[in-house]
Amino acid sequence: MIASTGFMFLGFVVFFLSHSCTTTIASIITPRFPSSILRPELISSSKGQVVYESKYFTQTLDHFNFQPQGYQTFQQRYLINDKYWGGAKNNAPIFVYTGNEGDIEWFAQNTGFMIDTAPHFKALLVFIEHRFYGKSIPFGGDTDVAYSNATTLGYLSSTQALADYATLIIDLKKNLTAEDSPVLVLGGSYGGMLAAWFRLKYPHIAMGALASSAPILNFEGITSPYSFNDIITQDFRGVSENCYKVIKGSWKQMEKTAQKPSGLEQLRKSFRICKNYITIDSLVNWLYTALVYTAMTDYPTQSNFLNPLPAYPVKQMCKAVEDPMVGNDTFAKLYGAANIYYNYSGNAKCFDLNDNSDPHGLDEWTWQACTEMIMPTNGNNEESIFPPSQWQYSERASSCKMVFGIEPRPNWITTEFGGHDIRRVLKRFGSNIIFFNGLRDPWSGGGVLESISKSIVAIVAKEGAHHVDLRFSTEEDPEWLRQARKREIKIISKWLQQYYHDLD
Ligand SMILES: *[C@@H]1O[C@H](CO)[C@@H](O)[C@H](O)[C@H]1NC(C)=O
Ligand SMILES: *[C@@H]1O[C@H](CO)[C@@H](O)[C@H](O)[C@H]1NC(C)=O
Ligand SMILES: *[C@@H]1O[C@H](CO)[C@@H](O)[C@H](O)[C@H]1NC(C)=O
Ligand SMILES: *[C@@H]1O[C@H](CO)[C@@H](O)[C@H](O)[C@H]1NC(C)=O
Repeated sequence: MIASTGFMFLGFVVFFLSHSCTTTIASIITPRFPSSILRPELISSSKGQVVYESKYFTQTLDHFNFQPQGYQTFQQRYLINDKYWGGAKNNAPIFVYTGNEGDIEWFAQNTGFMIDTAPHFKALLVFIEHRFYGKSIPFGGDTDVAYSNATTLGYLSSTQALADYATLIIDLKKNLTAEDSPVLVLGGSYGGMLAAWFRLKYPHIAMGALASSAPILNFEGITSPYSFNDIITQDFRGVSENCYKVIKGSWKQMEKTAQKPSGLEQLRKSFRICKNYITIDSLVNWLYTALVYTAMTDYPTQSNFLNPLPAYPVKQMCKAVEDPMVGNDTFAKLYGAANIYYNYSGNAKCFDLNDNSDPHGLDEWTWQACTEMIMPTNGNNEESIFPPSQWQYSERASSCKMVFGIEPRPNWITTEFGGHDIRRVLKRFGSNIIFFNGLRDPWSGGGVLESISKSIVAIVAKEGAHHVDLRFSTEEDPEWLRQARKREIKIISKWLQQYYHDLD
């Protein structure tokens, strides 16, 4: 059987190979990203260079424990830009990006919405890095120590991260004597979840949140474990029924080929895999990664988020699959699709299945996915573009036990932040949250897709992908995207108006 379970978030696809009883850490496969070297502090955009100053804040290691070791500190990085800020005297707003699972520079580079709207709002821009990622590493900044085991990684959690953000924002406002400046938190993906939760947990610090592609409902028992791959299936099927059929039909054929005497070598050649270790599972995982991430980042303009990609890459993949020049060879068709994701730059000599490079520093998501972020996504029904499979919590649990020696807490997120009956709960309790979702994004299946109240608003873009609203605006942006951003700006303006009214 082909690898049947996996878990992923933004930067993370892992297949745990359930059919093999000898699973080891080495068999956990992470996606390969061609390195894109970011110059620190200099974030380039389509509109030239945007400069953020990197600063460090002495942060408390454990906000929820008064044992002496909890008082240890670490250096937390944040990026700041005050070029457009209207200043403390005017109580001009502060926009804070609640960093997610990776280098904060990378998120800053891909969140043009802040800089695009800063002149209009006269906003101070701040991007805070999530603990245990990028340069915000506890235990003296030493990843060897910080990532050693469950004892050190135990300080990596969403609640600690939110408390970091609260502490840092309060201190920053004090330093700027900007105590009365309204704070808007915003984020995409896990960062969007953090933004929404921050607004709910710390309403005295943030007057509103823009939570983009935040799958806060993608937890056990709330949304269907099939929704994620159903959406990917629909993305490809929506382009062409034939493209969907070719991809869907390829898995069995691959498996069959792999069982032949020199089948793996044949597959290696078909997919131009480098001459090294290849297994059917690593090949499938490699293809799965390409399909998932292309669906997630099916942006209307050329992009370089996870990998460099053309505009509407799903369409481009199907075009490659259906290229008449390729003939009838299924593997050649699939190679063409993979080539869009892994080789849009045209620089790849061969594809390395064992490339575990992690240029955006996303690896520690494994720990989060083994503790609180139990987000079922890999159910596949008969219609799925991937082989049929079921979400099995027990598989996740045993993998995590093996890797970290810990038991996940699948109900902790809903206990801490809610999620069940969210409409009923937030209708009377919450306010000032925008939930943006693009329906082509597989994560939208776990998003808030209907407005809950006048000020908890869902903005849904049928053609949208993963936090496309937060990306730098470009000349080529389609009308639906312009409209979505316009609406967000209008809602935020209203919140600010109300804030200043109340302040008077
Ligand atoms: C965990 O890692 C820390 C830091 O490297 C080390 O001091 C400690 O002994 C380790 N604990 C266990 C249980 O292995
Ligand atoms: C506020 O100022 C103090 C003293 O200079 C400094 O140590 C601290 O890091 C500053 N806070 C932030 C968030 O930069
Ligand atoms: C491809 O398959 C179709 C339908 O099965 C067949 O008619 C056609 O001749 C094949 N073309 C090639 C080049 O093998
Ligand atoms: C990558 O694309 C270039 C340009 O199209 C091509 O020459 C090269 O063979 C491709 N690499 C692989 C591994 O397919």
